[in-house]
Amino acid sequence: MTLRTALAQGTKLLEDGAIDAPRLTAEVLLAHALRVERVYLIAHAGDELSELGWIHYGRYLHQRLRRVPTQYITNRQEFYGREYHVAPGVLVPRPETELLVEVVLPFITPASTVLDIGTGSGCIAVTLALESTARVFASDISIDALRIARRNGALNTALCDLGSAFPSGSFDIVVSNPPYVPAGDVLAPEVRDNEPAQALFSGADGLDAIRRLIPEAQRLLKPGGVLAFEFGFGQSAAIRALLPTATIMPDLAGIDRVAVLRTS
Ligand SMILES: C[S@@+](CC[C@H](N)C(=O)[O-])C[C@H]1O[C@@H](n2cnc3c(N)ncnc32)[C@H](O)[C@@H]1O
Repeated sequence: MTLRTALAQGTKLLEDGAIDAPRLTAEVLLAHALRVERVYLIAHAGDELSELGWIHYGRYLHQRLRRVPTQYITNRQEFYGREYHVAPGVLVPRPETELLVEVVLPFITPASTVLDIGTGSGCIAVTLALESTARVFASDISIDALRIARRNGALNTALCDLGSAFPSGSFDIVVSNPPYVPAGDVLAPEVRDNEPAQALFSGADGLDAIRRLIPEAQRLLKPGGVLAFEFGFGQSAAIRALLPTATIMPDLAGIDRVAVLRTS
């Protein structure tokens, strides 16, 4: 079978299984099976698919049909132009979280100290460290997440509840993409059955972690320090009530997504 035929068959299977973006997904999975970039598939469409390639490709297609996210199959996700290792046990970085990075970067000065609370894959901490000269620290309550964050380059990490491993008044900036999904929310099976609940859910209204994050950040920040965090769809009124002086920023879809506030 040629790569062209394999792609057509994979696309059909995924389409029949109601998987989003079936052609693109088939290309990503076939490229991963052959350990090549997607562009290779175009240039070599008439090549024969090896038996080993077929075995891997078939396995990946069936995983995807069982609703395993593509990123957990390829162990890759791009964030802010760089590639991160991801695996079950850590949230797949979302594109909208790049806004949090954009919001925080202008506040960073050459000697800033930054703490990323709930670092997950480390995507925020690593991006901030690479895009600035700040000293960036990261915490998470999940050892699986921290292992992956370290592998991705988040070096100064602590396994703890919020920022409890760090002394008061240590940071110029506290940044966080905390869990914020309300407990009863209906999620896509990819998310519900695969991503860690600890990274998603946060009490009946989704705001439990944020309610604890605010006083914890105030403890951790130096006077005049900055807290920036992400929150979910429909939560901006609650955030405004919790933090009347915060600036709320919308994401590219126009949905209020990030709160930022300077402490006194
Ligand atoms: C929504 S995920 C964000 C992951 C990553 N920062 C990102 O943006 O992709 C939330 C993260 O917070 C962690 N977390 C949940 N509760 C926590 C707590 N009490 N203290 C520290 N980390 C916590 C989870 O393990 C998870 O890695």
